[in-house]
Amino acid sequence: MRLHDLDFEIFISAAVIQERVKQMASELHSRFQHKDPVFVIILKGSFIFGADLVRAYPGKCEVVFTRVKSYSGTEAGAIQLFSGFDETVRERDIIIIEDIVDSGKTVFHLQQELAPYRPTSVTIVALLQKKILRPNLIKADIAGFEIPDVFVVGCGLDYDELGRNLPDVYAVVQ
Ligand code: IMP
Ligand code: MG
Repeated sequence: MRLHDLDFEIFISAAVIQERVKQMASELHSRFQHKDPVFVIILKGSFIFGADLVRAYPGKCEVVFTRVKSYSGTEAGAIQLFSGFDETVRERDIIIIEDIVDSGKTVFHLQQELAPYRPTSVTIVALLQKKILRPNLIKADIAGFEIPDVFVVGCGLDYDELGRNLPDVYAVVQ
């Protein structure tokens, strides 16, 4: 499959992803069922995983959105926050939903933004966790899949805005 100038091949199928999402939702439910957590969906990348995860979460919860941008093409860049938090997150149990944790800079940045609201707890859930050579600044507390340092698209993840709609996750052909 081709997007812009790169070729991609299937890496994790939608069926495998959906099975793992269900497990993650029940793990979260067993941790947070009496706490009415607030899910923070990071746009744009987490819109699919976030929607799947909150639908699979059987307990009471709230959902908020924040928008961050860091990647341009296949390269990481400076983090821009387009939309911050409001009083909904004050002194609550927060579950940050990321599509993928790479260096951990995006999640680190969001934790700094959340700090003034004194969250009761912050848990990081990511569909994908990249194993990188340099140390990750922050890792997901719960990760769907650990993957090597390859560029991936699909299930919300993009290559210059293409590929977000693909139900499977694809990796670039090296
Ligand atoms: P971090 O700040 O280095 O942890 O990178 C996290 C963000 O970079 C994610 O939310 C993605 O939007 C983007 N990103 C990192 N790796 C990939 C990738 O392989 N494909 C697409 N986007 C990625
Ligand atoms: Mg992106």
